[in-house]
Amino acid sequence: MSDDPLLRVSALSKFYGPRIGCENVSFDLWPGEVLAIVGESGSGKTTLLNCLSTRLMPSAGSVSYRMRDGEWRDLYHMSEAERRFLMRTDWGFVHQNPADGLRMAVSAGANVGERLMAVGERHYGNIRSTAIDWLGRVEIGPDRIDDQPRAFSGGMRQRLQIARNLVTHPRLVFMDEPTGGLDVSVQARLLDLLRGLVNDLGLAAIVVTHDLAVARLLSRRIIVMKDGHVVESGLTDRVLDDPRAPYTQLLVSSVLAV
Ligand SMILES: Nc1ncnc2c1ncn2[C@@H]1O[C@H](COP(=O)(O)OP(=O)(O)OP(=O)(O)O)[C@@H](O)[C@H]1O
Ligand SMILES: [Mg+2]
Repeated sequence: MSDDPLLRVSALSKFYGPRIGCENVSFDLWPGEVLAIVGESGSGKTTLLNCLSTRLMPSAGSVSYRMRDGEWRDLYHMSEAERRFLMRTDWGFVHQNPADGLRMAVSAGANVGERLMAVGERHYGNIRSTAIDWLGRVEIGPDRIDDQPRAFSGGMRQRLQIARNLVTHPRLVFMDEPTGGLDVSVQARLLDLLRGLVNDLGLAAIVVTHDLAVARLLSRRIIVMKDGHVVESGLTDRVLDDPRAPYTQLLVSSVLAV
């Protein structure tokens, strides 16, 4: 891992009128590091993730991102064009519901190819062969390339969404409950796949999950949230094996086997 962080989050807060979404969250994320954000429903995980990915503007605080050229940028003071460029090239976003992250009415191949075209690839043959390669990496056969995602199962759709996001080799991927909508059997396989891809590509990722087993499998570090606040953070194994905050102890002990 490099010496410089990729992302610096400083005293980030988001209020919805009088209600707290998240409050005073600070952390650094290093290149290639996977961070899990866990906590019960309503604890502010999605709010935090959406602020980090600039899909939502925070009420206070700042986030700096280190660009490929090494320069630091304040995410909330970028031009709209720059933000869009980051989202198209450097970042990925995997939604819990694949329909939110896919174009359901175009083919699987086009869903993957479109992201490549957004980073400047123009050669039809290259786009198609890269799409086939990526479908293969997420275990979708080349015979399905012309099918629309609506003809896919939930697990296949989620794998397609992952291929669409990773094909451009992003540096940072945001995921909100990436396995949340799937059967347990499908979840395990998808998690294995995701873990392999994240390792192979050296991706940094921020993964929101209410499932401690998912956090255990994917992440190196973890942030535990309750009522919009970070109650504990640290290396995932340490936090889950030796939780210090009473709330984390409760969370861990309420799961049979993590
Ligand atoms: N658009 C909104 N308007 C008002 N309040 C909101 C809005 N979105 C979220 N909240 C509130 O912010 C708090 C945090 O919600 P958030 O969706 O971030 O939680 P979460 O941890 O992602 O929960 P879940 O696990 O159920 O997805 C909750 O109290 C919620 O009611
Ligand atoms: Mg949520």
